[in-house]
Amino acid sequence: MDIRQLRYFVAVAEEQNFTRAAKRLFIAQPPLSRQIQLLEDELGVILFDRTSRPLQLTEAGKFLFSHAKKMLAKTAEIKTMTQRVGKIERSLSIGFVATTLYGLLPRIIRQFREQHQSVEITLHEMTSSQQIEALKSGKIDVGFGRLRVEDPSIRRILLREESLMVALPSAHYLIKNAQNLTLKDLIEQPLLVFPKQPRPSFADQVLALFHDRGLSPNKVIEVRELQIAIGLVAAGEGMTIVPSSMRAFIRQDVTYLELDEKRAISPVIMSIRLGEQSDDLKVLLQNVYQVYDAEQIHYIREEL
Ligand code: BEZ
Repeated sequence: MDIRQLRYFVAVAEEQNFTRAAKRLFIAQPPLSRQIQLLEDELGVILFDRTSRPLQLTEAGKFLFSHAKKMLAKTAEIKTMTQRVGKIERSLSIGFVATTLYGLLPRIIRQFREQHQSVEITLHEMTSSQQIEALKSGKIDVGFGRLRVEDPSIRRILLREESLMVALPSAHYLIKNAQNLTLKDLIEQPLLVFPKQPRPSFADQVLALFHDRGLSPNKVIEVRELQIAIGLVAAGEGMTIVPSSMRAFIRQDVTYLELDEKRAISPVIMSIRLGEQSDDLKVLLQNVYQVYDAEQIHYIREEL
C-alpha cells in the first residue's frame, strides 16, 4: 500500500465514480482501476461495492477512507514543512561597503531575490577589511568592497574598475571650468575623506591617489562616512572624491565632475572564502555579469 494508491482510492471514494476520479487525477481509467484492484488484492478485502450506482464504499472501504484522508493530510503537511525548513536553511549573508549601494548592488540583489525566492538574504554594511574577518568567522558568505585586502584564506574577484569623480558644492567656481579637471586643479580645496575608521580604508585610497602624483591637498578632513562627506560638501566645507556610481545620489546642491585622470579608479571587489563554490554564490556572480552586460560595463569574467 503506497501513498499514490491511497490518493487514487480517496479520489474514487469522493467522486463515487471511476471515470470522474481518473479525470480529477489526470490519468486514464484503466491504470486507476488496476491500482485499486492491486490495493484490494494486497489488503485481501473489497473496498467498493461495484454493483451500486453511484459507487459505494464497503465497511472496510469506509474504514480505510477515514484513515487514508488523515494520512494524505499529514503527508501534505510534512511536504510543506520540509520545504519551509529547506527555505530557511538556504541563506546568503552579504557584506558591502556603503558606496556599492549607489552602484549596481541593489539591482543585483533584487534580481537574485526574484530568481531565488527560497534563499534568505541578509545584508550587512561593513568596510572591506571588516568583510575579510566576517568571511573568516562565517558571519558573511560574500563581501563587496573596494580595497584589496591580502589574506591567504580569502579569494578576491575583481568585478570592475570604476572611475572616480569629485563632488563639489553646486555653486563652486571650479564647475564653470569643468573640462579636463585634474587632481592638481583640486589641491587648494579642503578634501573630505571617509571612513575615518577602521584604516586602511577608501580614505587612504583617495589620499594615495594625490600622493602618487606628488600632490598633497591643502587640508584633509576625515569624516565617519560617505553621507557625512556629501552633506558637508553641500554645506560648502570642501570637496570629496567618490566612485562615479555616486551620481545616483542626486542633490541639487552637490555637483559631481569627471576627473581627467587615468589612475583615478576604484575597484569593486567580491571576496569569498577560498575554495568555496556554493551554487548560490555562482548564481550571484552570474547575476553581477548579467547586470554588467545589460549596462555595457567592461569586466573580465571569472568562474567560481
Ligand atoms: C557594482 O556597482 O559594480 C557592484 C557593486 C556591488 C556588487 C557588485 C557590483
